[in-house]
Amino acid sequence: MAVSDFIINSYESTIGLDQIHVSEENQNSLNQLLKEYKHLAILSHYNLPVANKIFLFGHTGCGKTTTAKAIAKALNKKIIILNLGNIVSSRLGETARNITEVFSKAARENAVLLLDEFDSIGKFRDHDAKDSAEMKRLVNTVIQLIDELPSHAFLIAATNHSQVIDTALLRRFQLKLKFELPTPKQLDTYYDSLLNPFPEEFRSVERTYNISYAEAKDITLRAVKNNIIASEEVKNSSNVFENTDGSIT
Ligand SMILES: Nc1ncnc2c1ncn2[C@@H]1O[C@H](COP(=O)(O)OP(=O)(O)OP(=O)(O)O)[C@@H](O)[C@H]1O
Ligand SMILES: [Mg+2]
Repeated sequence: MAVSDFIINSYESTIGLDQIHVSEENQNSLNQLLKEYKHLAILSHYNLPVANKIFLFGHTGCGKTTTAKAIAKALNKKIIILNLGNIVSSRLGETARNITEVFSKAARENAVLLLDEFDSIGKFRDHDAKDSAEMKRLVNTVIQLIDELPSHAFLIAATNHSQVIDTALLRRFQLKLKFELPTPKQLDTYYDSLLNPFPEEFRSVERTYNISYAEAKDITLRAVKNNIIASEEVKNSSNVFENTDGSIT
């Protein structure tokens, strides 16, 4: 398989950064980042570095991929998504070459490169000696690619297993944002924002807590759909009754 088979070119519309529910700390970091990018020219003129390597880590379904896409959108850049889970497990030997190709493509196209499931380059270290040596080479290649990343390029790595990642790799990222399970208060705000666009009569949902944003979204949308369907079925059954009765055609 060619490396292009592993790439997801994402042009899909995504939610804006302002619609993502993040902690105050992450919000501040993201605001700072966008502010620096807005004034990139003058900051570069004074040789002031602007972060272009970001590490997103934490609980599944709490907004890492969504945030990466929203950052690309805010910077007005295309995003290239490479899921390292697929590429590394299929052919370890060719992985370094493939990743190198994707880094070049991202730099050439002035795109944001998202390396998803970033922990995949580290997982094999405990396997047999051959895999381990290959994995070490791969980690070194990626470290080198990150170090040589042009300043106009933008790299985002995402994982929900940050603890297995090589510290030498981690150190390369100037900004690290943690995504945690939302508190009940944060989830309530999220439930409210999800329900808000729908008419009051469809908004009843049994709110569950200690779950991710993604799970809360599933629960909410399912409940709203069922409320709408139930209301339609009540209408339909009354129509059937009227038709049988002959009073309505
Ligand atoms: N913080 C958030 N604010 C708003 N919506 C969110 C948030 N987190 C998740 N969602 C919703 O849940 C969906 C899944 O989230 P996303 O794919 O960003 O999670 P993730 O952290 O990348 O998960 P994984 O680790 O499994 O890849 C998104 O499409 C979005 O609709
Ligand atoms: Mg994700």
